[in-house]
Amino acid sequence: MIVTTKQLFAHAYGNYALGAYNINNAEQIMGLFRGNIRSQAPFIVQISRGARAYTDKRLLEYMIRAAEEIFPDAIFAVHLDHGDEETCYDCIESGFYSSVMIDASYLPFEENVAVTKRVVERAHEKGISVEAELGQLGGVEEDISVDEDKVHLTDPEQAAEFIARTGCDSLACAIGTSHGAFKFSGRQSLHFEIIEAIQKLVPGFPLVMHGSSSVPQEEVERINAAGGALKGAKGVDPKQYLPAAKLGVCKINIDTDGRLVWTRVHREYFRDHPEVFDFRKPGKVFMEEYAKFIASRNELLGSAGQLEAVRAMLTGE
Ligand code: G3H
Ligand code: 13P
Ligand code: ZN
Repeated sequence: MIVTTKQLFAHAYGNYALGAYNINNAEQIMGLFRGNIRSQAPFIVQISRGARAYTDKRLLEYMIRAAEEIFPDAIFAVHLDHGDEETCYDCIESGFYSSVMIDASYLPFEENVAVTKRVVERAHEKGISVEAELGQLGGVEEDISVDEDKVHLTDPEQAAEFIARTGCDSLACAIGTSHGAFKFSGRQSLHFEIIEAIQKLVPGFPLVMHGSSSVPQEEVERINAAGGALKGAKGVDPKQYLPAAKLGVCKINIDTDGRLVWTRVHREYFRDHPEVFDFRKPGKVFMEEYAKFIASRNELLGSAGQLEAVRAMLTGE
């Protein structure tokens, strides 16, 4: 069942966070649905502009619709990750997405407000939720590269004003994370005081944490031992997910970790089976490993075991 992020956040707020997982292909979709059903978790399927362009946006839509049939118990939102205005409108009109992110965080405050407001108006006409972003993460987001020293953490007062003026349904805040496998080069850490201050100003309003992959060191070591070169890769401590959720973070974005699982499985598989050229063999291993990874993250997010309670809330039973 496809629902909006707003509906999911209404159940999660202050208690747990939804995992928001990026997908690009059939194997990720199967692993994702399997892992969420196995851990009985509601979840968010995220599709970036890069993912839409990788094969064809319709292919992802039809595969997700097929997954919905294969896993009829699943409850999830379909969300555009880091959308620009044009892509948001395309998703809003599609009849498939239940949530979009308008990322105008690179623009000056007033322009970010104006663009976000326009998207909110169009989305709300169709009952679609909108995530916006204020502040800038480090690392690389789609095609925009943000230097570490230019990272702007979210200003809580501005956040409260932005939420009131735009009518967005959730807000991605920059609290010290960055996208990719190389977060924290030593001096950075998570700024929970920013989330706390925003929660005080707008109690009950759902916040979003981007760049939340944990970059498990075991994965990195296995990748490197199988021919990879990911030196100094480091992520967020996943034990921070639940404390963040208690402060109103309802959505935690995880993409890089899934890519690491994929890379580890395939590097090891072809190293250990040099005679194999049937890609379904490592593909099957990946789907299972990704399902296990998703279930393990849902335990840390607190979303594991919430599926039936969410269903009861949605159906009023
Ligand atoms: O924020 C970026 C996400 O990890 C999506 O990455 O744009 O390479 O698909 P992508
Ligand atoms: P990671 O790179 O930490 O997985 O972050 C993903 C993300 O924020 C997608 O929007
Ligand atoms: Zn992001």
